[in-house]
Amino acid sequence: MNRVNKMYANGKVAVKDVNLTIQQGEFVSFVGPSGCGKSTIFKMISGLIDQTSGHVDILGKTPRDAQKESTDVAFVFQDATLLPWRSVIDNVMLPLEFRNIAHSEKKERAYKVLEMVGLKEYTKALPRELSGGMKMRVSIARALIAKPKLLLMDEPFGALDEITRQNLQSELLRIWENEKMTVLFITHNVFEAVYLSTKIAVMTPSPGKIESMVEVNLPFPRKAEIRTDPQFSSIVANVSHDLKF
Ligand SMILES: Nc1ncnc2c1ncn2[C@@H]1O[C@H](COP(=O)(O)OP(=O)(O)O)[C@@H](O)[C@H]1O
Ligand SMILES: [Mg+2]
Repeated sequence: MNRVNKMYANGKVAVKDVNLTIQQGEFVSFVGPSGCGKSTIFKMISGLIDQTSGHVDILGKTPRDAQKESTDVAFVFQDATLLPWRSVIDNVMLPLEFRNIAHSEKKERAYKVLEMVGLKEYTKALPRELSGGMKMRVSIARALIAKPKLLLMDEPFGALDEITRQNLQSELLRIWENEKMTVLFITHNVFEAVYLSTKIAVMTPSPGKIESMVEVNLPFPRKAEIRTDPQFSSIVANVSHDLKF
């Protein structure tokens, strides 16, 4: 993103002069108070809305072109947004619905991603039979089935209890390390951001700006115990400090 600004039709400046370069394979979290423009940045990256000025470049393409090829970018929202009348596997196959791929391969890929998120016993279940954490796993599997190079996650674990949240964080890191896609992740939770990320974009509101980029120099794979490491706490303190600007 190069000098990107976004002013909505009502005159609200949601994002101001954002410059951001993210290398392939990174895991970058965006933290900041509500209303600071995090979702707006994601909507511009995914081509849902256009920036007012500046440039957004995704793998050498405009966001809309990257979106057209639909395998490049996938989105996961806080609300799992599953179709209630479809089984787990049919929800997961949805992104491949209009793609020219044999049904047998679609199924095979669906089983594989459901196994990755620990749900291969639940392929025939309906969304209403699943817990909140399981629904989120289905939503992640659905995003992974098209093998995206870039995965955008907007507060995906915000509605989950702490234990489920920590389990899903570990699973997500394992998947990211195996699949080597780029992940951009929005959260309010500084601990979550430090645990997951290679870098953290700390944002401040009015107008929405990136206040700092904090490097998280903790080794991978990250065990759950790293949360009590003094180095972990010191990065949490740095990020919290930058949030208070
Ligand atoms: N469609 C819209 N029209 C006008 N203002 C909007 C619109 N969407 C978001 N905003 C405003 O832009 C700012 C940033 O919103 P958003 O990107 O959703 O923040 P965040 O995701 O960090 O909570 C907020 O002040 C919000 O009220
Ligand atoms: Mg938001």
